[in-house]
Amino acid sequence: MSGEHRSDVLIVGGGVIGLSVARALWNKGVRDITVLERSLPGREASFAAAGMLAPQAEADAPDDFFRFCIESNRRYSTFAAELLDETGIDIELDDEGTLYLAFTDQDLVELGRRFEWQTAAGMRVERLSASETHRLEPFASPDSLGSLFFPDDRQVENRALLRALIEFARLNGIKIETGCEVVKIDETASETSAITADEKNIQASKLVVAAGSWTSLIEGAGPGAGIPEIRPVRGQMIAFDGVKRFFRKVIYSHRGYIVPRKMGRILAGSTTEDAGFDDRITDEGIGRIRRIAIEISPSLENLRIADKWSGLRPYCSSDRPYIGVLPGRQRTFAAVGHYRNGILLAPITGEILAEKIVSGTENKYLRLFSRNSVRASVV
Ligand code: FAD
Ligand code: GLY
Repeated sequence: MSGEHRSDVLIVGGGVIGLSVARALWNKGVRDITVLERSLPGREASFAAAGMLAPQAEADAPDDFFRFCIESNRRYSTFAAELLDETGIDIELDDEGTLYLAFTDQDLVELGRRFEWQTAAGMRVERLSASETHRLEPFASPDSLGSLFFPDDRQVENRALLRALIEFARLNGIKIETGCEVVKIDETASETSAITADEKNIQASKLVVAAGSWTSLIEGAGPGAGIPEIRPVRGQMIAFDGVKRFFRKVIYSHRGYIVPRKMGRILAGSTTEDAGFDDRITDEGIGRIRRIAIEISPSLENLRIADKWSGLRPYCSSDRPYIGVLPGRQRTFAAVGHYRNGILLAPITGEILAEKIVSGTENKYLRLFSRNSVRASVV
């Protein structure tokens, strides 16, 4: 592609994060955007995800990351309505809420702790007895000792979200170059460049790395670039075929979750495995997820597993995503390391990074999440 015209912004990686950044940039007036995608857009972690927007079920403490997740969840109603308007695609934002079940005394202690800190943080959360839990979700396990109900945690159909973001790109002339693997990025005083595996040199005024689990393999974004290492954490998933939707809510336990979708499909997940870049599904992983799902609802024992898959969550060794300019650079940015929450965090990530790229404005979260501090291992 050398010699071709130079884009305003190049985005490396066409997952939910790269595509959301592309859309936010376009909405802020950037017109010449190119996404460079190694294979096809929206086929990796973003496709594998369960689509939960569940900060209250997933976070452990009322810290900045929790507030960041809450803020992104709040933006989802507008995000979904705008995408419907822009593309005609409904991303199936579902407001039924999430139940978090307890099965042991230790689970009850954890639920009590979660109820306390979330109430103190001003979140809506209800503590339910076993019988109240069954009134709300009759197919939840009769062995459950009680639950928390998070009315504001929700879910989207993440694959519809990807279709919508790709359609947004198509309708607005955002170019998605498929089969285009970037091996190196660079920056000079006046431009940035991406070198591809087939030795093309693609130039742009600014460049965003959004390559998920593969970020640290790119020269210029890996060791020495000043951002924490990003590494893959495998998650396997299954889907049961139901005949109609007999769960209303996402249901969590300490060990996993089930996510009811339209037309009776029920997703169940997931594993958290350090398997490098090996994204194969395993009998052991699938068996474990099935047992967790049946613990949540014994009725699932009778349903056929219709589908199984896996994806690589991009885990950042700072234990937080990295969103912002690369250390020591002026034109090169990254939006990486969203780990378990990239679907949830897509609207806010796109918005605050596009703001920074277009006008230089630094949202407070961007300041917090563009630091290079390394925490302990997650797996
Ligand atoms: P990806 O979707 O992996 O996209 C990265 C893209 O970059 C890929 O398309 C890849 O091909 C491309 N790429 C990589 N290297 C290069 C290169 N060198 N050149 C060009 N292109 C490149 N999050 C939630 O919020 N809610 C959930 O319920 C949820 N459930 C999950 C369940 C599972 C099993 C998994 C695996 C993840 C889940 N997540 C969930 C996490 C979420 O999926 C991720 O955080 C999110 O998808 C990350 O998006 P991304 O765009 O950074 O990465
Ligand atoms: N957020 C759900 C998962 O990563 O499995």
